Amino acid sequence: MRLLGPAELDASSVVANNAMNRGRRLRGYSRELGFDLAEAVRGRSWLDLCCGEGHALAEAAMLGSDVTGVDLVGHFAVPQGKGLELVVASIPGWRPERRYDLITVVHGLHYLGDKLKTLTDVAGWLTENGRFVANFDIASVEAGSRRKLLATLRSRGFAYDPRNKRVSRTGPATIEFPYEYLGADDTAGPNYTGQPAVVSHYRA
Ligand SMILES: C[S@@+](CC[C@H](N)C(=O)[O-])C[C@H]1O[C@@H](n2cnc3c(N)ncnc32)[C@H](O)[C@@H]1O
Repeated sequence: MRLLGPAELDASSVVANNAMNRGRRLRGYSRELGFDLAEAVRGRSWLDLCCGEGHALAEAAMLGSDVTGVDLVGHFAVPQGKGLELVVASIPGWRPERRYDLITVVHGLHYLGDKLKTLTDVAGWLTENGRFVANFDIASVEAGSRRKLLATLRSRGFAYDPRNKRVSRTGPATIEFPYEYLGADDTAGPNYTGQPAVVSHYRA
């Protein structure tokens, strides 16, 4: 199996797949993440990685949230404006200049290469009591023993919900994982969402 580096992955047809849903609204985000986003973001700061067209973010900005959305593709369907900043960048590799009360990744981690680096990064970008929630399938990380990987995530303050396939944490931390990133496999086929996804490979 040939593992892809960051530039190759960004150009992969799996990541640039036009069939993926980029247009979720706040209600769709709430359904995918399992809590009421409109309530959670009202008057707070929110960073959404892999934000797609940005509809949910524009709705949150209308509610008085201070929102930043980041996506590899600049297919934003909403205008930037008061309370809404939209950035075209590849994750991991991008860094914010501030911390956020809420950080989310709605069906975006599936397409990232170094997923564990993204988890490390977001832990450092949360405000005190800030919350991180993302759709995440632990099967998309190949790092030897899955049991050990799960224990490692938990020991560093991440909760994993295997039924709903979500990873989350509360509060900031400086984190290191005992894994070396080797590269990404974009040939693994569809994941639980039915869309082709990327498996990230690590050496323990
Ligand atoms: C399934 S869509 C979800 C979009 C949005 N979160 C939603 O639920 O409507 C996944 C998004 O991840 C973005 N993406 C994939 N790889 C990325 C990367 N390396 N950096 C930033 N965004 C990326 C894609 O461009 C796409 O917009």
